[in-house]
Amino acid sequence: MSSDHIHVSRDAGVLELRFNRPEKKNAITNAMYGALADAIFAAADDGDVRAILFTAAGDFFSAGNDISDFAATASGAIVAEPRHVGRFLEACVRAEKPLVAAVQGHAVGIGVTMLFQCDLVYVAETARLTTPFIDLGLVPENASSITMPARMGHAHAFAMLGLGEPLMGRDAVAAGLANAALPEADVEARARAAAYALAKKPAEALRITKALMRDRPTLMARMQEESALFAERLQSAEARAAFAAFLSRR
Ligand code: COA
Repeated sequence: MSSDHIHVSRDAGVLELRFNRPEKKNAITNAMYGALADAIFAAADDGDVRAILFTAAGDFFSAGNDISDFAATASGAIVAEPRHVGRFLEACVRAEKPLVAAVQGHAVGIGVTMLFQCDLVYVAETARLTTPFIDLGLVPENASSITMPARMGHAHAFAMLGLGEPLMGRDAVAAGLANAALPEADVEARARAAAYALAKKPAEALRITKALMRDRPTLMARMQEESALFAERLQSAEARAAFAAFLSRR
């Protein structure tokens, strides 16, 4: 499926997936998840794609899941439509090709947890990364209940997931998330250069190395466990109240 809000391009072995909904802070709709999932799964069988690069337009990398979509799911309004978020999460966990992210601005929710599924992350020093699942009456997704404590330590991960404390880009290297924190204007070029460099490496050796470094069965199992709980929480009174509060802010 396609979405105007995900721009797909390729160059020199790098497939670039660009969030392109800046007027909504790159909040991710069902159609956007579908376009991302399709592109990542197709890349698996495409020998010309050697690395995948996530980029974004505007001042937000992504404000996370579109809250109108959450609210519509919670109310049952879009129950008949296939949901693509699970396919996107699975595509990232199963990806055999390296995933690189250029986080030029703030990120929320899945805009943060997807970074923990990436192999290289370059972030703006000024970026502010938050995972406010609990404030929305929800629970962590994308295996972040494993990946965040594993990378940052329990205390720091719980401050983000439990208290909703932000991680600033300038602290993201020390937190084990990012490879470099850079002036915003330099982030995309640095990430792109890393993706091009990966695209020139021996592909099979790279594939095996990535596979050795990731415990996919454990990540998939946790992701599925979280997804079932997340789906339950979407229907909760806590979540519905939080969605309504966001949607009626003005
Ligand atoms: N879902 C749907 N729309 C979103 C959105 C989201 N996750 N995040 C931002 N938007 C929309 C806003 O509703 C607004 O639309 P409008 O101009 O039609 O009113 C537009 O994007 C700009 O957002 P705005 O809130 O005016 O920008 P801001 O800079 O003041 O705040 C955020 C940006 C991201 C901090 C704020 O929008 C926010 O908290 N969004 C929700 C993030 C979230 O909880 N995501 C889910 C995580 S699980």
